Amino acid sequence: MTETDLMEKIVSLCKRRGFVYQGSEIYGGLAGTWDYGPLGVALKKNIENLWWRQFVSSRDDMYGLDSSIVMPEVVWAASGHLEGFTDPMVECAKCKHRFRSDQVEGEHCPECKGKLGKPKMFNLLFPVDLGSTVGASRGYLRGEIAQGMFVNFKNIIDSFHPKLPFGIAQSGKAFRNEIAPRDFLFRVREFDLMEFEYFVNEAEWEKWFEYWRNEMWGWIESVGIKKDSVHELNVPEDERAHYSKRTIDFEFDFPFGRKELYGLAYRTNYDLSKHMEKSGVDMQYAEEDGSKFVPHVIEPTFGLGRTVLAVLASAYTEDELGGEKRTYLKLKSAIAPVKAAVFPLLKNKPELVAKAREVYQALKKEIPQVMWDDNGNIGKRYRRQDEIGTPWCITVDFETLEDDTVTVRDRDTGEQERVPGIELGAKLSALLAA
Ligand code: GAP
Repeated sequence: MTETDLMEKIVSLCKRRGFVYQGSEIYGGLAGTWDYGPLGVALKKNIENLWWRQFVSSRDDMYGLDSSIVMPEVVWAASGHLEGFTDPMVECAKCKHRFRSDQVEGEHCPECKGKLGKPKMFNLLFPVDLGSTVGASRGYLRGEIAQGMFVNFKNIIDSFHPKLPFGIAQSGKAFRNEIAPRDFLFRVREFDLMEFEYFVNEAEWEKWFEYWRNEMWGWIESVGIKKDSVHELNVPEDERAHYSKRTIDFEFDFPFGRKELYGLAYRTNYDLSKHMEKSGVDMQYAEEDGSKFVPHVIEPTFGLGRTVLAVLASAYTEDELGGEKRTYLKLKSAIAPVKAAVFPLLKNKPELVAKAREVYQALKKEIPQVMWDDNGNIGKRYRRQDEIGTPWCITVDFETLEDDTVTVRDRDTGEQERVPGIELGAKLSALLAA
C-alpha cells in the first residue's frame, strides 16, 4: 500500500463509517472545515478525556480552564499575534490563487502557470465585529488557546494560591485563517487544541522542559500513536514562534510526509510580562519570603485533530483472517468509539434477540460505549466492527440460552472465548482498565 493509498483509504473509511465529513458538504464544502460524525466525535472526546485525565485531573499541580473563544483586540496586541502571527503568502497574478510561500517552488503558479507576486505577510487571526455598530469594537477568534490561560493567571493565583511550579490547562477550539488548508484534518481553519502553560521559576526552566518532553512521549504511547513514526525536531531560532526561546516539534510520519504533530515551547515570561505591561495588572508571583517575580512558562501543546489523524494512521491495518482479507483499526480500547458490540447470532429468532437485548442492557450499565448490532450476517458484523476499531464483539447464540455463556471475540486475533454472561461486565472492565 502506498502512502497516497493509505490517506485515501483513511479519508474514505472516515466518511463511510461516520467518523469525519467535509464541512458544509451539501453546498460543495467549505475548505479547511471538517465535521465529526457519531464515531468521530466519540473517538475525539475519548482522546480528549484521556488527555484531561492524564495531564489535569490525575495531577495536583494542574488547574483546568475553559476560557472564551472571542477575545478583544488588546489581548492579541499584547501577545504579539497582531504583528507576529503571520505566514508568508504569494498570489498568482493570473488566477489570483494564493499559496503559502513555502508550499510553492519557482516563480509560477502550479495551476495556471501565471506569474507569482512577491511574498507578503498574511495574518492568520480571524477578526470579528462585536456589537451592533460595525467596527465599534474589534475582537478576534482565538488563534491559540494559550492566551486564555495567561489572561486568567491572576484569577487562578487569587482563587487557589498555588505554589510554583503549577500549570493551567484547557482544551478547546482555535481558529486560523490558513492560506492553504490541506491534508484532511492536518491543516484546517477551525481545530481543537489541548495544551497547558506550566509556570516555573526561571532557574528551573530546563529541568521542567525535559520533564514535559518525557511526559509527551508517555502520552504518545498511551494514546496509541506509533512511537517509531514520531521524531523530535529542534526548531532553529529563525523558525520559532515570536515568543519562544526553545521549541521542540514532535513530528509524525503522516501519509503525506513528516510534519508537526505536537510542540513543546519555552515561552519565557514573555506573555505574562506583555499582559502586565498592557493591562497594568500585576502578574507577579509572590514567594513565601516576599520576593516577587513574573514566572516563566513551559508549554506542551497537542493538536487534537492531528492526534485523531495520527491515531488513525497508526491504527489502520489490513490483514487476512480465516483466509479473508479484512481492514481493521487497531485502536487502544480506551479511545475506541465503540468498546463492545452485542449481537444475537440470528436476528429472526426472537428468543435469541430477547436474550441478546438483556445482555446488551446489562453490559451498558457496566461499561461505556456499547453498541447493538443485528444488521446483516455475523461475518458482516465482525467486518463492520473491525473497521471501526471495536475491541470486542459479544455474540448470544443457542448455547447462551442453555448455560448463560456468551462468546467474546477479540478484534486483533479474531479468537473467541466463551464467558459466563454474569462475568462479562467485570471481564471487559478489567480489560479496559489494563
Ligand atoms: N500555543 C501554542 C500553539 O498554538 P502552534 O504550534 O501554533 O502552537 C499548536 O499550534 C498545535 O496545534 C500544533 O502542534 C498542531 O498540532 C496544531 N495545529 C496548528 N495549526 C493547525 C491547523 N491549521 N490545523 C490543525 N491543527 C493545527
